[in-house]
Amino acid sequence: MTEQMNIKGIEPVEIDPDGHLNPPDWNVFREQMHDFLDRCVDRMCAAESHPWQVPPDDLSETYAIGQGGDLVARLTEQVMPYHSGNTHPQFWGWVQGSGLPSDLMAGLAGAVMNSNVGGRHHGANAMEWAVIDWARRKMGMGPEASGVLVTGTSQATVLSLQAAKVRAIPNLRAEGSQAKLTVYAGNGVHNATRKAVELLGLGHDALRLVRTDHGKMDVLALSQQIAQDRADGFLPLAIVGTAGSVDVGSFDDLNALADVAKAQDIWLHVDGAFGAWTRLADDPWRGLSDGIERADSIAMDFHKWMYVGYDCGLALIANEADHRAAFAVRPPYLEGFEAGLSGGDRWFCDYGIDLSRGNRALKVWCALEMFGEDAFAASITRNCAQAALLADLVQSQGMALVAPVVSNICVFTANPDLSLQEQSTLNSQIAIKLQLDQRAVFSTTHVNGMICLRAAFTNHRTRERHIHAAVQDVKALAEKGAL
Ligand SMILES: Cc1ncc(COP(=O)(O)O)c(C=O)c1O
Repeated sequence: MTEQMNIKGIEPVEIDPDGHLNPPDWNVFREQMHDFLDRCVDRMCAAESHPWQVPPDDLSETYAIGQGGDLVARLTEQVMPYHSGNTHPQFWGWVQGSGLPSDLMAGLAGAVMNSNVGGRHHGANAMEWAVIDWARRKMGMGPEASGVLVTGTSQATVLSLQAAKVRAIPNLRAEGSQAKLTVYAGNGVHNATRKAVELLGLGHDALRLVRTDHGKMDVLALSQQIAQDRADGFLPLAIVGTAGSVDVGSFDDLNALADVAKAQDIWLHVDGAFGAWTRLADDPWRGLSDGIERADSIAMDFHKWMYVGYDCGLALIANEADHRAAFAVRPPYLEGFEAGLSGGDRWFCDYGIDLSRGNRALKVWCALEMFGEDAFAASITRNCAQAALLADLVQSQGMALVAPVVSNICVFTANPDLSLQEQSTLNSQIAIKLQLDQRAVFSTTHVNGMICLRAAFTNHRTRERHIHAAVQDVKALAEKGAL
C-alpha cells in the first residue's frame, strides 16, 4: 500500500460533479470503507445488544431518495438499527437464520466481483457447483444429481414441481397440458407447496392434504387417495414429503413415502427447508431425515439452519437429465462456445427460470471455509438440544407443550388452565409484549384450535442462558395475565 493510499483524516469531498458513479477520490472512499467495516464488525459482534426495535413512524421520510449526506453515518444510525431482529440470540420466531460473520467477507468479495451467475465461463459458476455438490453429498444423493441456488424453498419448490411435471408429461414445454394433475402432502405442509401448485396452473384443489398421524403422513391414506384419484381420471404428479414441518418441526417417514412413490411411479419431492439439515446433526436428530436421499427433489435453505445470510435456497434434483429437461433452452444470443467467456459447460440459466443471477454460493462457501462443516453440525445439534431444553423448562414451570418436540421447534401454551380462547389471547399477548420489550422473539401458531407460543431454533447465537431467561419472562407474564 502506498503512503498516498493510506492518508488519514481526509475530509469527505463533494460528489463528483461529472456524475461518473465513481468516488471522486478513492483514498477518501477507502477511509470511509475502513470506518464502515469497523462499525459493521462492532455491530455484528455485539448482536446481543441489538434486538429488534419498533421502526420510527417517519422512516419512509428518512429514507426518501435525494437526501445525500454522510452515507457511513446514515447507514449506521438510520439503516442498520432497524433490522428484522433475527441476528439477536433470543430470536426464535418463524424459521429464520441468524446470519454469519463470513457473510461480511462474502458480501464484500461479491460486490467487487459483481458476477452474473446465469452462465458463461467464470469462477462463480464453479463455486456454485462446488456448493451444490457438497449439499448433494450431505443429502446422500448420487453424482447424477444437480441443483441450482435460488431465493429460497418457495422458489425451489416451484422449480422442483415443474421438473416433476415435465418428466410426467414429456411434451409439456411445447404443448402445455390439460391433464388433471394432483399433488399429495401431509396436512401440515408449508404453504410454499400450495403456492407452487397454484403457480404451475394446477389450482390448489389439486393439492390433496393427506391425514397425518403423530406428525407423519398416513401412508395408507396416501395410497388410498392416489388410487381414488387415478380411478377418477386424475394424473398423480408428486408426493411432497416434509422434513421439518413449519408449525411443530415434525418429519414424514421419508422412506415410507419413497416406497409409495416408487411403487406408483410418482415424483417424490421433499420440503426440507430447514429440516434437511438434520443430516448434519448427531443422533437421534439425524435419523429424522432418513430416506431423504431417495427423493427426486429437495427444496432447502442455507439461509435458515445453515445460518447463512439472506437469501440462499437450493433446489436439488436427483437426476440432472430431469432438471435440464425442464429448463434448458439456448437462443442464439446465449450460444455457448468451446472457448472464451461463452465457454463453460453447465450454465445455471439451464437449471431454473433466472437468467441474471447473483452469486449466492459465495456466502455458503465462505461460511464452510471459515468455520468448517463440523461447526455447523455442532450448532444444528445444539439447536435441537435447545428446543428440548425449552420443553423441559416449560413443563417444569407449569406451562404445557402442545406438541411433542422432535427437532428444533417447541410449541407451548403459557397457562394450560385457562379456556382455549383465554390461552390464545394470553399467548399472543405474551409474544407481542416480549417483542416490544426487546426481551425475546417467539412467534405464534395455531395448534388444536388455539394460538400457541412457538420457538424455532435456527440461531447459532443462542446460549442456554437465553432460554432460561426467556422462560422466566414468559412465566412472569403468564402469572400477571400478560399486557
Ligand atoms: C417447512 C418450510 N417450507 C417452506 C418454507 C418457505 O421457505 P422460504 O421462506 O425460504 O421460501 C418455510 C419457511 O419458513 C418452511 O419452514
